[in-house]
Amino acid sequence: MEATASHLLARDLLIQYAKPGTDEVVTAVDSVDLEISRGDFVCLVGPSGCGKTTVLNAVAGFVPTSGGELTLDGRVIPGPGPDRAMVFQQPNLLPWRSVLANVTYGLEISKAWSKTEARERGMELIELVGLTDAASSFPSQLSGGMQARVNLARALAVDPEILLLDEPFAAIDAQTREVLQAELLRVCAARDVTALFVTHDISEAAFLADRVAVFSPRPGRIVQEITVPWERPRAQGIRRTREFADLHDEIADVLYAAKEGARS
Ligand SMILES: Nc1ncnc2c1ncn2[C@@H]1O[C@H](COP(=O)(O)OP(=O)(O)O)[C@@H](O)[C@H]1O
Ligand SMILES: [Mg+2]
Repeated sequence: MEATASHLLARDLLIQYAKPGTDEVVTAVDSVDLEISRGDFVCLVGPSGCGKTTVLNAVAGFVPTSGGELTLDGRVIPGPGPDRAMVFQQPNLLPWRSVLANVTYGLEISKAWSKTEARERGMELIELVGLTDAASSFPSQLSGGMQARVNLARALAVDPEILLLDEPFAAIDAQTREVLQAELLRVCAARDVTALFVTHDISEAAFLADRVAVFSPRPGRIVQEITVPWERPRAQGIRRTREFADLHDEIADVLYAAKEGARS
């Protein structure tokens, strides 16, 4: 596989749902084109209901496509697999399991790891997300930010190539969120993963992404991709620069123009 070849490719992607109890369909996304290389970090922003979660679910293999192409390394996505991991907004940690046991849960189910291997791997990931001191704590003893870290470590446990993150920090307070964003960039670099990250937060997209894909309202399609010029990982300080403010405004303008365009 050439390093330049696209890893994840959507061409003219159409995804429709059956309307419950009727013969009608809801077109969630239509004509989505997206090309992602290995190691890219791409953020999806767009109005509520435009199909961002649908796109993640299709890449995860949870939702079938209705038209167009969606391929991973040139192959049609056959269904869910350990090469792709989802991170949801709600961590949904198992309350009776420790942090370590939550992180290793997927490994125990897959049976490909011995107990010792699973434990070592779990501790390595817990260290990576900065939770070593909390490894034997229980979810109820953790702050929201710590739970988000466990959520991330758990997704990484199976060593996915692609992380699919659906507004994972949306419920976290603003200051903790900024810390988590920087941590996520560090973790992605350390594990060499490709990331597809959905967010409502324009600053979050500008801080995290190599590219920000802006969706139109439903049926969603990508109206514009905005390239973010900075190397990753990034220092918190870039948020306070003029260039960052300009980039934020550029994304916001495209987003609002897409919304207005849909209305007129
Ligand atoms: N399982 C489903 N069955 C029927 N319609 C759905 C389903 N999931 C999502 N939709 C519809 O598809 C559209 C896109 O939803 P979604 O992908 O969740 O948008 P977003 O994440 O951008 O808010 C919405 O109109 C939503 O109501
Ligand atoms: Mg969503």
